[in-house]
Parts: sequence; structure tokens; C-alpha cells
Amino acid sequence: MQVVLVGSGAREHALAWRLARSPGLTELHAAPGNPGIAALGRCHPVRAEDGEGLLSLAVTIEADLIVVGPEAPLVAGVGDELRMNGFPVFGPSADAARIEGSKSFAKEIMRAAGVPTAKTMSVARPPCVVKADGLASGKGVFVCRTAAEVDDALQAVTAFGGEFVIEELLEGEEVSLFAVTDGRRVVPVGAAQDFKRIGDGDTGPNTGGMGAYSPVPWFEDVDALVEQIHQPVIEELARRASPFVGCLFAGLMITDDGPKVLEFNARFGDPETQVLLPRLQGDLLQLLFACAVGDVAGSSTAMSGEAAVTVVLAAPDYPARSDYAGAPIDGIAAAEATGALVFHGGTAVRNGMVVTNGGRILSVTATGSTVGDARERAYAAVDLISFDGAQYRRDIARG
Ligand code: AMP
Ligand code: GLY
Repeated sequence: MQVVLVGSGAREHALAWRLARSPGLTELHAAPGNPGIAALGRCHPVRAEDGEGLLSLAVTIEADLIVVGPEAPLVAGVGDELRMNGFPVFGPSADAARIEGSKSFAKEIMRAAGVPTAKTMSVARPPCVVKADGLASGKGVFVCRTAAEVDDALQAVTAFGGEFVIEELLEGEEVSLFAVTDGRRVVPVGAAQDFKRIGDGDTGPNTGGMGAYSPVPWFEDVDALVEQIHQPVIEELARRASPFVGCLFAGLMITDDGPKVLEFNARFGDPETQVLLPRLQGDLLQLLFACAVGDVAGSSTAMSGEAAVTVVLAAPDYPARSDYAGAPIDGIAAAEATGALVFHGGTAVRNGMVVTNGGRILSVTATGSTVGDARERAYAAVDLISFDGAQYRRDIARG
């Protein structure tokens, strides 16, 4: 199969690494990819949101499957254009991707599907959570415990310009729960815990994610919860004639009243994918293709008994900025020599050298027999990598 992978982050590098091991792969193409992906396939200078560019690439290489990694191209509808032209796409239509792109749409679907979620409030009164309606890369959600925080949040969401949602503040542990689907049936692909704040001890601003681990040892009900949460949402979207094909990612809060959905995403998580895929057994290409062609019945997945931990190395001014370019990165080969997987997130090659080019620069994953073992190996590999101003959390997966 000729496969086009859309995106350029560490999640896409992890997908590429796993797709490259599938016997059915003839050639992997990335749009635009990154230096890590370039070692596994051919990178094309086509932006992830460039629908026309993607279509022309798919036509040229006679693509058998297009896998879309990030949310922005999905919400923008690149999947629709490709599908309309007859290409199998792993990734939802713009209509179905609204489950991530619009918080109010997600709430409406959850209500209709009977999925447990935070109660909506009509007035913002602390404690509560205020969420801008559209895509905001994690920056549109404000957890408010005081009246002053509510005032700031309302001002901020107004500055985002559009609608917003107010909901009750839930307390508990967060878990990311993943399933892939062909629009009718769901196949669970495991759970992971993500570390969203920039600083150790969950301090500082929210980020895209600074590290993750899987499995979550105390969270065992993966299959039952996918049945209870993902399945009815997929059925509701199908009922509305916007079937969801791709990865449905539920962000859960495990409260004293049981699991509740904080949000849905229309794609794999980053950095969760960097710990799920090293554990996934079987043929990823076959699974994603089965979803894309509406034939997932009979597919199943199993996760290895091993644990995986990933640590994100970020730019010095991340998350305020994500454009740290040109700092040489040392030690990637040494880290890989320990058996760790070094996934490129924001890198470039200049004069034959790998340099920084983004906010989340690298995602370093290791596996082990326990989460603790995997964590030790991941940090041992991280210690071998350096670039000016690198920042990373030291407490990823530290119970
Ligand atoms: P979201 O983009 O909706 O996942 O929100 C981003 C982060 O905000 C989540 O990962 C949670 O840490 C937090 N959050 C969102 N909704 C709530 C809620 N209802 N109660 C508590 N925290 C929340
Ligand atoms: N790590 C959270 C996300 O991918 O949205």
C-alpha cells in the first residue's frame, strides 16, 4: 500500500514508525513530515492544511490510504475532499470533527448519546470551567475557583470572539481513552495519562502535553468504558448522517461519581500516541485501513503487557511560544542506542545537523516491565540529549 501520513509532529513520527513495520506498506509518504519521519519514508513539501496539495499528492502517488494526524486539517475538511475523490481516509469529515472543533456541539452529542459529562451551567459562578467554543490548542479552557478567575476567563473567551460553554468543575484524575472506528463499530486502543502543565507537580500554564505513560495501572476498564462512551457517540454521529471514521479520543475525569467526559478529540493524542503505539500489538496499517474502508468488524487490538513512558523535551519559551528555531540538538543517536525511541516533534535539518524548530521538540519514549522501569529508561535516554534551553518535566509517570 502507498500511504500518505498528514502532519509533522511527534505523534505523526510515532504513527510513521509503527506503519513502517506493517508488511502491507509499500511506501510511506508524509505531508509535510519531519526529519524523524524522513528516515522512514518520503517527505513532501505539502502543508497539512493544504487540501489541494494533498489531493494532488494522493493522485500522483496513487495513494491507497491517507492518515490524517492533527485536528486542524480535519476540522478544515481535508478528509472530505480526499474522500470525495475516492481515497480511503483515516480521519473524520469536517462535520464529524466538530466533536472536537466545537465544545457546544460535543455537549449536544453527549446529551443525545447519554454519555456522562460535566453539567452545563447557565451563569459563570465559581467553581466552574469556562471554555471557548472553537479550536484553541488547549488555550481556550479556564478552570475558575474564584470570582476574579471567572472575570478573567470571561474576558479571555470574549477575546476569542465567539461562543463559550460554562460547566461544573470536576475533580479527579484525568485519563485519555482511545478507540478507532469505521463509523459504526469501535475498537479500543488503550488508555494513557498525559501531563498537561509545563511544570513539575502540575504547575504553570497548560501545554499540548509534556509527557505520558501507558497503561494506567489503576484504570482497567478500557473495553467497558469504550463501549459506554465511544460507542454511543459514534452511533449518534452516524444517526445524524455524519459518521465518524478515525480515532475518537475521550478526555475523561475519573470522579467520585465515576468517569465523566471532559472533551472529545477527533484524532490520536500527542504525546499519548508515543506511549500507545509501542504497546500496540498487531498490524497498525491493516487496522487504520479497515477503519477507512468501513470494514472494522472482526478487527481487534491487544496491548502488550509492557509499560511505556514518554518525556517531551520542549523549547525554553514553550508554551508561550512555539517557534524556537536553529538550536543544534546533540545526543539523539546516543539516546536511541539505549533502546529508547526518539520521536521528532519540532525539528529541522540545517547543514546536515538536527536543530530545533518548534515548541515541543522531541518526545523520548522507553518501554519496560513496569511504569517505573520504563520511566527510568526514558529519563536515562533524555539525559543523553541536549540543546540550548531544553526544558522538560522530571516527574512524568512518577506516581
Ligand atoms: P478540554 O480542552 O476541554 O479537555 O480542557 C482542557 C483541560 O481543562 C482538561 O484536560 C482539564 O484539565 C481541564 N478541564 C476541562 N473541563 C474541566 C471540568 N469540567 N472540570 C475540571 N477540569 C476541567
Ligand atoms: N495530549 C492531549 C492532546 O493530544 O490533545
